[in-house]
Amino acid sequence: MAENPLREAVTALTHLIHRHGLEEPQILSEASDIIRKLVARDDWLPDDMAQPHPQYYRQYLLYGDPLERFSLVSFVWGPGQFTPVHDHTVWGVIGMLRGAETEQHYRMDEGGLVPVGESARLEPGDVACVSPSIGDIHRVSNAYEDRVSISIHLYGGNIGAIRRSVYVPETGERKPFVSGYSNTVVPNLWPPMN
Ligand code: FE2
Repeated sequence: MAENPLREAVTALTHLIHRHGLEEPQILSEASDIIRKLVARDDWLPDDMAQPHPQYYRQYLLYGDPLERFSLVSFVWGPGQFTPVHDHTVWGVIGMLRGAETEQHYRMDEGGLVPVGESARLEPGDVACVSPSIGDIHRVSNAYEDRVSISIHLYGGNIGAIRRSVYVPETGERKPFVSGYSNTVVPNLWPPMN
């Protein structure tokens, strides 16, 4: 079968997740290598999974592990779009495919949310991680006001179905949140690329 980078990444991730006894740092390290390889080229994302919405950022499920051990999502940012401050509750790896995004981490303090460090900018090929153990609360924005950006997100669970939280930045108030997916159809196989 002709190569398909998305399929290769899913296969490698399935092998990784299937290995027993791995600690999170090792999973994040090896998963980051897989995602870095995936976003090293930008010729494989189906157009259906790259469509922005004029008002909302889109989250297209590219692959959902049948045992819900991981999910792979394309985040499509319209110009100037951004997320609320949110958490994930599972580990995640973000790979920048197209355009650029900025990410600001936060932590909970007694008085509310406190920014952690400077905001980071991800350029195509860059990879970043989140998890409850290394920092799980952040806001992500399209770095561009005039163009679409796309990043590929891997999570250690079925992220669209996980009960998690968004936060009111000023007060730290948490609100329940389930993101769902933007797909109308969820494929699990992809045609070979020529
Ligand atoms: Fe996030």
